[in-house]
Amino acid sequence: MEKQGKLILRLTEEAKGGQGSLFYILNGINEEIGYIPEDAVSQVAESLNISKAEVYGFLSFFRNYKTDAADNKIYHKIVVCKSESCEAAGSKQLLEHIKTSLNLDFGKHSPDGKYFLDYVYCFGHCAASPAVMVDGLLYEKVTPEAFDEIIKMISVPIKNLGSVNPADFKKPENYIDANVSEIVKNGELLVFKRCGNINPLSSLDYVNAGGFSALKRVIDEIKSAGDEGKILFINELKHSKLRGRGGAGFPTGIKWETVFKEQSKDKYVICNADEGDSGAYADRILLENDPLSVMEGMVIAGLIAGAKSGFIYLRAEYATAKFIVESAIDLLRKTGYLGKDILGSGLEFDINLIVGGGSYVCGEETALMESIENRRGMVRQRPPVPAVSGLYGKPTLLNNVLTFAYAVFILSPLKDNPLHISNLEYFLSLGTENSKGAMPFQVSGAVKNPGIFELPFGVTLRELLNLADAYETAKMVQVGGPLGAYFPLSGEFLDLKLSYEDMSEKGGILGHGGIVVFDNSADMEYRLLNSLDFFIDESCGKCAPCRIGTIRIKELFERVLKKQNIEENLKIIDEILESMKHLSLCGFGSGVHMPVRSLPAYYKN
Ligand SMILES: Cc1cc2nc3c(=O)[nH]c(=O)nc-3n(C[C@H](O)[C@H](O)[C@H](O)COP(=O)(O)O)c2cc1C
Ligand code: SF4
Ligand code: FES
Repeated sequence: MEKQGKLILRLTEEAKGGQGSLFYILNGINEEIGYIPEDAVSQVAESLNISKAEVYGFLSFFRNYKTDAADNKIYHKIVVCKSESCEAAGSKQLLEHIKTSLNLDFGKHSPDGKYFLDYVYCFGHCAASPAVMVDGLLYEKVTPEAFDEIIKMISVPIKNLGSVNPADFKKPENYIDANVSEIVKNGELLVFKRCGNINPLSSLDYVNAGGFSALKRVIDEIKSAGDEGKILFINELKHSKLRGRGGAGFPTGIKWETVFKEQSKDKYVICNADEGDSGAYADRILLENDPLSVMEGMVIAGLIAGAKSGFIYLRAEYATAKFIVESAIDLLRKTGYLGKDILGSGLEFDINLIVGGGSYVCGEETALMESIENRRGMVRQRPPVPAVSGLYGKPTLLNNVLTFAYAVFILSPLKDNPLHISNLEYFLSLGTENSKGAMPFQVSGAVKNPGIFELPFGVTLRELLNLADAYETAKMVQVGGPLGAYFPLSGEFLDLKLSYEDMSEKGGILGHGGIVVFDNSADMEYRLLNSLDFFIDESCGKCAPCRIGTIRIKELFERVLKKQNIEENLKIIDEILESMKHLSLCGFGSGVHMPVRSLPAYYKN
């Protein structure tokens, strides 16, 4: 108890009452103790001088915080990925094997108390699925036989179980992801070109590979031309037609201009690294292998928009990225790229890392900001948009990890592209009318060559699947994460162009560029029920159509699958989906109709 009190005091001190302090303290308790003891709730509340209800309300929103005292037992914690790519690669059979061989079920201990089973929606290791975490260590491409080997291997010793020990993830200074050269395939490689080829934690390597040239250009221009210089860069971004890579595809230049024009002493920059979409892992790969490019983009954004403070909001599952990002921030502070006097210019900007607590909906920008403000990750009503009133009601420039990296490519004075023209012109030469440049398409599931293909928008599904060497038995794809539509791999759909406009014309989304391939061995009824569980689990609950609709749809589908009142129930499902599409507060509820309608429609064919 005394030890726990001291831990909380230390964590509170380190959090400095700053942004994301509840995440910091609760993640720290989780790491040390393995769960959040009930009495820690009052201690945390006292230390931050907020109510117990606020602390409890917050922690009960997130998957990673358990107050169950049973979590204090010594046991081996097994976490299985329940999401699309792992399922396409055989996680259903693996899960059955785990449950029967160890006599386990989700949220339960084995009868001998030695094992505990939990699940996650995607570890971001989809190119090597199925992925399973045991005692905080992630294992890739796990077959039932490989799982038995893992269990044999870990039977002794038992230490610090039930929580992830960050020490397990400490990597040497010159760490380069061993898999990255396998994962990042050839393509245009505008922003992925350095991945695997430089030490991610060497500013010298980064500079030698063209890094910080855009930042130096921006600093020089702002020093000589002031606001005129800032407007120049905003116009370049607008001219490039860069669209945000987080999913919604909003024009980046307009967002930066809006924040720039807002009159406020305090403004913020946020890098959205929550990457919750199953089948998506480009943010993780970039942050682990070329973090300085993302941070360069954030500094540039801060200097142009007039913000001094930036945050990287990282999803809790990315332990290696956490270590790399923390180290990269230290490095940039020491080498003068962050701080009160960036490269001696007198200009100021700093970055801090916030690690989430396990929630898909916190990838939505307003839910994300709520959670940084120590509140449950519930979506905010819009307007006002975050660029006008975001974090703490201040103008906030929020972009996805990839968007910052593409902005750096576009604003760089270098001509490091195959045509040796300006990077801006080169970017414009790629892609389609309304989707300019390239996108790291992340392919996984029933393919022999999974990975990231950074290719111009407009590449067809057929071309991409050829590159990824899809199984001959491949039958369907889901494009754009758990809210994306499924398409059959036949006829016109194979010629579907991967661009924002083509996807939307076909009733789908491109999302963050994740593409999961299913072959004919996949159990699509299981898939449907699994995705409905995901919608129920992850709905923030703020608006009724989504909160109630998700549960009701699952109930009705279960009846349909049992062949009860099929026609009538399908009609009600359709009505609910239509209401959710039009009445939900955010893209989560309004997007549910895409997978739920397309999956049953196509998989029968
Ligand atoms: C349910 C939901 C989840 C989202 N998850 C993410 C995410 O994990 N990462 C991300 O960058 N954007 C995510 N978004 C989109 C963000 O709200 C926001 O539009 C985006 O981060 C803006 O950055 P961009 O303009 O660079 O794309 C999500 C949106 C919704 C509705
Ligand atoms: S649609 Fe769902 S996730 Fe979005 S605000 Fe409503 S309840 Fe929350
Ligand atoms: S790791 Fe399982 S779907 Fe991504």
